[in-house]
Amino acid sequence: MTQYIVRGGTPLNGTVTISGAKNAAVAIIPAALLIDGKCRVENIPDISDVHDLIDMLVAMGAQVQRVSGSTWEFDCSHVRQTKAPFDQARKLRASYYLIGALLGRFGQAEVAMPGGCDFGSRPIDQHIKGWEALGAHVEIIGGEIVARAEQRLTGSGVYLDMESVGATINTMIAAVLADGVTIIENAAKEPHVVDLANFLNSMGARVSGAGTDVIKVRGVSRLRGGFYSIIPDQIEAGTYLMAAAATGGSVTVENVIPKHLDCITAKLREMGCRITEFDDAVRVDAPARLRRTNVKTMPYPGFPTDMQPQIAVCMSLAQGTSIITEGVYDHRFRYVAELHRMGAQAQVDGKVCVVEGIDMLAGAPVKACDLRAGAAMVIAGLAAQGVTVVEDVHHIERGYENIIDKLRGLGASITRVEQPEPAAPVGAAG
Ligand code: EPU
Repeated sequence: MTQYIVRGGTPLNGTVTISGAKNAAVAIIPAALLIDGKCRVENIPDISDVHDLIDMLVAMGAQVQRVSGSTWEFDCSHVRQTKAPFDQARKLRASYYLIGALLGRFGQAEVAMPGGCDFGSRPIDQHIKGWEALGAHVEIIGGEIVARAEQRLTGSGVYLDMESVGATINTMIAAVLADGVTIIENAAKEPHVVDLANFLNSMGARVSGAGTDVIKVRGVSRLRGGFYSIIPDQIEAGTYLMAAAATGGSVTVENVIPKHLDCITAKLREMGCRITEFDDAVRVDAPARLRRTNVKTMPYPGFPTDMQPQIAVCMSLAQGTSIITEGVYDHRFRYVAELHRMGAQAQVDGKVCVVEGIDMLAGAPVKACDLRAGAAMVIAGLAAQGVTVVEDVHHIERGYENIIDKLRGLGASITRVEQPEPAAPVGAAG
């Protein structure tokens, strides 16, 4: 049982360096399975989702080495195993990218149904549609997705019913070594979709159109090795900007692509923050009291659903009433019950949350319900009066590299403590 103890009330100030993008890394690592040779990837974040994926590749026969810091070398030339370790695969969402990669390389894959954050039902019908369009047969057997193709996958047209990041990436990965051309329509445009396409192209793939809603993949016979550097994490950067805003501080996020942050900084401006952009850094200077705003989460370039809990904390402390409309998931407001423990005034009705700003949050014991909700609890704790204890922080550590040291570098009082598991009550039998 790991907890964060947060003593709030101090504005964050200073500069924080942003790590490589989680959601790009968790696609690029499985895609390394397609490569016949060694590839080196720089700027891989040190987070548990990355380590879980690397462990799975190693268990399947890949040679993976940490060259230094955030640079890793992958050699999947000798992988023959097409079944991913069940228990690890079902823990995380991105394990489904192993299916696209194994199908593309070997024509078969057996991977547990993916896990990840709990936002209600998270179907994968669009991924299956993509693989089937390329010629695979897909079944769910014993909690595993079993995909097989009789012959080499064949390029095809795939129209996605919604702009799904995962289905866009998975279809792209499967199509890279297919015979012929695949056209993905209504594709997701997120920066990490573009980053994966750039990674694949740097290894010899022929992907065009990533970042628009039509992506064309011309199949090639093999991918050679190469070197690639992952883009900075848009959501990690946004999280530190929101933490600065909520605490009334002044923070520069460096090693970022400011364009990727436009959808977030636009809202911070509306809330009264001053935003200064540099070539690869963005600074936020927060006002004494934030102003209310409304937000609707949408696929990129809209406001990201992965920033929704963090902006809710800012709204809780803003002057006036704000409205959040969740436009991506059915159930992404579970954390609101945790914010109530700290005194927040917020009412959820379906996909809408109305937040009435109050003067101050009060420290309390709270849970990280999922990755971004966990980050929001940390922000709320930093802004609150008193001590906040955040439990279930393993969710946070799935996606934020070194969050404790980064926040301390900005002046936060936050400590990570291990609590012994509570003993079973006397007399309790197994
Ligand atoms: N959807 C379907 N069918 C599908 C695929 C998606 O109905 O086959 C629905 C989903 O249920 C959801 C919407 O489409 O309502 C969008 O889902 P999407 O596929 O875009 O999400 P994802 O690929 O499962 C990735 C990120 C999430 C992020 C979303 C949206 C990874 C590993 N995960 O999930 O990241 O919220 O895109 O941007 O890349 C996070 O980092 O905290 C996180 C949850």
